Amino acid sequence: MTAPTSHRRYWPEDPLPSDATGEWVREQVPGQRSAPIPAGEITGEWPTGMWDRRAAQAAVAAAAPTAVPDGPGTAGVPRLLAAVRPDGRAVSLAEHQQAYGPLRTAGAGRLITESGLRGRGGAGFPVEAKVRAVRAARGKPLVVVNGAAGDPLGEKDAFLMSRLPHLILDGAQVAAAAVEARQVLVSVVQRPGVLEVMERAVAERRRARLDEVPMKVVGVPDRYVTGESSATAQHLSGGPALPTFHPPHTAERGVKGRPTLVQNVETMANLALLARYGPAWFRRVGVPEEPGSLVLTVQGAVAQPAVIEVPVGVTVEQALSGVGWLTEPVGAVLVGGCAGRWLSAPVALATPLSHAGLAAAGGTLGAGIVIALPERACGLDETARLARYLSGQSAGQCGACLNGLPAIAGALTALAGGKGDRTVVGRLHRWCSSVAGRGACNHPDGTAGLVASALEVFAEDVERHLSGWCGRPLRGVLPVPETERRGRRAGASR
Ligand SMILES: Cc1cc2nc3c(=O)[nH]c(=O)nc-3n(C[C@H](O)[C@H](O)[C@H](O)COP(=O)(O)O)c2cc1C
Ligand code: SF4
Repeated sequence: MTAPTSHRRYWPEDPLPSDATGEWVREQVPGQRSAPIPAGEITGEWPTGMWDRRAAQAAVAAAAPTAVPDGPGTAGVPRLLAAVRPDGRAVSLAEHQQAYGPLRTAGAGRLITESGLRGRGGAGFPVEAKVRAVRAARGKPLVVVNGAAGDPLGEKDAFLMSRLPHLILDGAQVAAAAVEARQVLVSVVQRPGVLEVMERAVAERRRARLDEVPMKVVGVPDRYVTGESSATAQHLSGGPALPTFHPPHTAERGVKGRPTLVQNVETMANLALLARYGPAWFRRVGVPEEPGSLVLTVQGAVAQPAVIEVPVGVTVEQALSGVGWLTEPVGAVLVGGCAGRWLSAPVALATPLSHAGLAAAGGTLGAGIVIALPERACGLDETARLARYLSGQSAGQCGACLNGLPAIAGALTALAGGKGDRTVVGRLHRWCSSVAGRGACNHPDGTAGLVASALEVFAEDVERHLSGWCGRPLRGVLPVPETERRGRRAGASR
């Protein structure tokens, strides 16, 4: 594993509370850290003064896109986030070109194969395998940039689109070269501050006659399942943004029946740097089987919620240290987002942020979301709230999902409200295993996995709730969208 961890925190704009210092934050959680991280291990722009507000602001200011962030001679993190503007504005085409120079897409397929890059949208599928599948399929291939940013617990995709649109669009050109596509569709969530930025960026490039392959931005409804690849493909084909039954996979038959390479925005941004600096450079951070960096959303019991970048393979503890460590004792950590898993704090803190590392701990990397749940917050209540939202996001096409998710959400809500008994707990376990694998997409699997992990990690609280209440309040730590809690169905609009 690459030891050094370098972070940038950018969201919200004001990086740290005015009185935050490293010692202040660390003192709050005696005994909470599994192993101290020596200051020297944290490299890059965040040396020992990383908790200091002025040092933080100076470091962010130094990140203005005036130079190539990680040239071939250096390799560390931040990589993708190195060029983020400190004022929160999107990097313009002129600034982008000044920072990175021209893009060359020759040999894109070979670069992707040698890089070992895996998708950053959730499943972590090797990009090379998808490229091969698209190339092997019959028909004129197409590339889709997945900017649905559907997980409400995560901010990183919207952040990347609103700040670094040209890095993503460069990557789309690399992807198009790899599969010999003649068209790129940029599917972007209809959210203020995101869609307009991507539209403007594509228009800027069109005026500059920059791209070999034409690109078109299409807005997608802001719903959880619209970013599932078959839902995206159906929407881009003129249908509703709902998942379709597969096989065939989108790679073989996607938009309008054509072979379609769908990649997440962070995956695309990685391609932009890979094409410039090569696979050997790309592999200099991360772990051999999962090279590169991860852009994470970190929130919960931290000094500031943030989007940060870390090498693949750093522990959850190291990622949390990058946002000013913990503000209060933590009982559990949700890793992965809506389709993620709860891990107890001691397990989570020591677990490497990689697909293999998290799988070994019973978790999942998912959409790169890390949420630290304070010990003084009720994990069952938080999960019930999220389960209600997720049940409302079912596209309503598959029985297991349509009926199973509301049943799971209802039972968990009853349990969290002190109205459950052991039969409710038994039913929850049964339903969680029976809905998995029974939908057209993995939405029920994700929700069932999340709820099952809550029953396991908060087992002591389950016992307390069976006789009333655990004594911990519902604090609304998980940022579940308010409007969606009423159970609106997903993807119905076009
Ligand atoms: C219910 C559901 C929702 C999803 N939402 C998104 C999303 O919002 N954005 C995204 O990039 N991928 C999303 N995915 C994953 C996509 O189906 C697909 O695997 C991904 O876009 C491929 O890109 P990658 O290989 O670069 O990760 C979702 C998957 C499921 C099952
Ligand atoms: S599993 Fe659920 S979300 Fe997925 S297609 Fe079926 S009904 Fe829709």
